[in-house]
Amino acid sequence: MSTIISPSLLSADFLHLERDIRMINQSQADWLHIDIMDGVFVPNLSFGFPILEAIRPIIEKPLDVHLMIVEPIKFVRELSALKVDTMNVHYEACTHLHRALGAIKDAGMKAAVTLNPHTPVELLRDILPELDMVLLMSVNPGYGGQRFIEQTIDKTRRLRRMIDEGGHSCLIEIDGGVNAQTGARLVEAGADALVAGSYVFGHAAPLEAIAGLKALKRNS
Ligand code: DX5
Ligand code: ZN
Repeated sequence: MSTIISPSLLSADFLHLERDIRMINQSQADWLHIDIMDGVFVPNLSFGFPILEAIRPIIEKPLDVHLMIVEPIKFVRELSALKVDTMNVHYEACTHLHRALGAIKDAGMKAAVTLNPHTPVELLRDILPELDMVLLMSVNPGYGGQRFIEQTIDKTRRLRRMIDEGGHSCLIEIDGGVNAQTGARLVEAGADALVAGSYVFGHAAPLEAIAGLKALKRNS
């Protein structure tokens, strides 16, 4: 299976959002990753619903929405109205994670849980059967263009083992500092999907950057 690629719109040129979204439409990307921040869960703000509603009609890829906000479950209805494919909520932001995942699925979306770099994958053992995807942060969330945290390779391996041994179908996605080198190592460690922001949008040939990541395959 080829790697699922989810370019992060956070690194697009906001003066030319339409141009950049149409580039993604034409690319081999599988999804479009949308980062929503609240200045509370993370020390930054990004974009909110008025912008998402404005760009939604031209987006042709399934939406992979990453909520870096407290109480993400407040917005299930808005995201489902936007025909979001996958809703990623942070483990650290959900006291009642089981209930939150149920609400996401009842609203017709795929349910994903995101882990900050310090949160061990072992904490997911009892919730894995409920999950469509786990998103491992390989930087501290809040900003694009940060340096990849090495420990993510080992976390990916450990999570791969838990999923395979349990016979679960949930995907592993990685977000932060992904480029051709870290991407190859992550896929080898067991990642199914890669988010890439600055690597794609900062590349002289973004379509080729996406195609290169898409071609990454696990050897075993
Ligand atoms: C960071 C966001 C990422 C970000 C990744 O908080 O969750 O999705 O856009 O950016 P890069 O790929 O530049 O690390
Ligand atoms: Zn993200």
